[in-house]
Amino acid sequence: MSNDIHSSDFLVIGTGLAGLLFAIKAAEHGKVTVLTKRTIMETATSMAQGGIAAVITDEDCFEKHIEDTMRVGDGLCHRSVVEEFVTAGPKIIGELVQMGVDFCKVEKGDEYELGLEGGHCERRVLHVKDHTGLDIQKAVVSTAKATSNITILEHHMAVNLVIHQDRVRGSYVLDVKSGEVKRFVAKATILATGGAGKVFLYTSNPEHATGDGIAMAYRVGATITNMEFCQFHPTLLYHHKIRSFLISEALRGEGAVLLGPDGKRFMDKYHEDAELAPRDVVARAIDNEMKRTGADHVWLDISFKNPEFVKDRFPAIYEECMKGGIDITKEPIPVVPAMHYVCGGIKTDTHGRTDVKGLYAVGETAGTGFHGANRMASNSLLEAAVLGHNAAEAVKETLEWDLDASLIAPWDPGEATDPDELVIITHMWDEIRRLMANYVGIVRSHKRLIRARNRIGFIQKEINQFYWDFMITPDLIELRNIAIVAELIIKMARMRKESRGAHYNIDYPEKSSQKVDTILKKSLVPID
Ligand code: SIN
Repeated sequence: MSNDIHSSDFLVIGTGLAGLLFAIKAAEHGKVTVLTKRTIMETATSMAQGGIAAVITDEDCFEKHIEDTMRVGDGLCHRSVVEEFVTAGPKIIGELVQMGVDFCKVEKGDEYELGLEGGHCERRVLHVKDHTGLDIQKAVVSTAKATSNITILEHHMAVNLVIHQDRVRGSYVLDVKSGEVKRFVAKATILATGGAGKVFLYTSNPEHATGDGIAMAYRVGATITNMEFCQFHPTLLYHHKIRSFLISEALRGEGAVLLGPDGKRFMDKYHEDAELAPRDVVARAIDNEMKRTGADHVWLDISFKNPEFVKDRFPAIYEECMKGGIDITKEPIPVVPAMHYVCGGIKTDTHGRTDVKGLYAVGETAGTGFHGANRMASNSLLEAAVLGHNAAEAVKETLEWDLDASLIAPWDPGEATDPDELVIITHMWDEIRRLMANYVGIVRSHKRLIRARNRIGFIQKEINQFYWDFMITPDLIELRNIAIVAELIIKMARMRKESRGAHYNIDYPEKSSQKVDTILKKSLVPID
């Protein structure tokens, strides 16, 4: 067998909570290869601050968590999915604890210390101070590394899925260090590539959140759903040196207030729950205040709380802000809304199955119907863990399938030469991100979406030319993916003739009486 071919039962692309939990569980049934384009710790999971929502106390109950999720999802959550994921919460928490996640407990007690975030009617957010995601990532990484049957390869970037006779058979993968494109063959391929924050100018996501899984799945004909619901987190740190640093919603859960440039609170004008209103409401209110006053940010203030409490509860935020010269125990924090989470994604069932045979998606990459039109805070780690777990059950159905590597041709670079004008790639990246921020951001309009659609069509043509003429590089792969994700967001935003959840269009400000998901696949061209 040629040494550019790697075979395993299951190929996982991405190393966040969903991908690694899948790998840990699936390794009981077969050999798993896990790829990441960077290093194993560089994931959105690692950056999650707030925590993971689950019903843990006697005051809370599944019905309340289900109702909160449905209400925040603004009519588009799939009830049966919400019920399944919410009720799986306590068991998943138990598993994470067994893997070593030490969620905070109340002082001198055995009960968990639970956080409150927007949309939740009860305190139900389990957390490890304000670095919950990092601790969860460390726990799943060390468990995966200690599990036999799992091979983890860093700096390996998926280029294209391989499809043969209507079944995904694995992926072509760029070995980033050697520059070689290899064939990774598998019975089941699991996309766990996280979100696509880099499609916008400002994002809380990691540098490499370029929607790779969503773009690859779309290219092989998988159905994509609800991509117009781009969730903007209301409070990203606004600082000229510190980029992509989130100021957790948990601060507002502990009483922090939003202030306009005049130093006055404004959220009570927008929603009865003020700072704890659903995220879409808070993000739009901030956007409106910034546009109204011409300010380039607003303020988040927690300085009136006991400094020792603030430092103990939010050590990572305290330290990062101090690095930027802001003492959050003494002064308000400058913040802006930023792209945070893709509520839609590759359409899957609750076990990560897509509508393409052999292809599964988990975590933020998947659109299960759990989040509806707007994800409730701290529900994403819950979904990631439950989907990872469920998908590992589902892929047992592929174990009897053949694994014939000879069906897959070696990568053909054609006439490609080394790209000599990298500035073109940088320019197109920048153009897409600005275009999305200006035309497809928090508040959209019919005219701006049409402009965006025209521009992205033009940029796509240039990228395709570049793609076939030059040797592929990580930047080119990401650019090609980000352009597809931008196209999907724009097209689906055009399809939705209403305002709902995270999608707001000034030309269709009302909510339609029909509650429908948008879906798009390559063979379905939307009517303009
Ligand atoms: C946050 O800590 O504010 C983010 C939590 C989330 O997005 O679920």
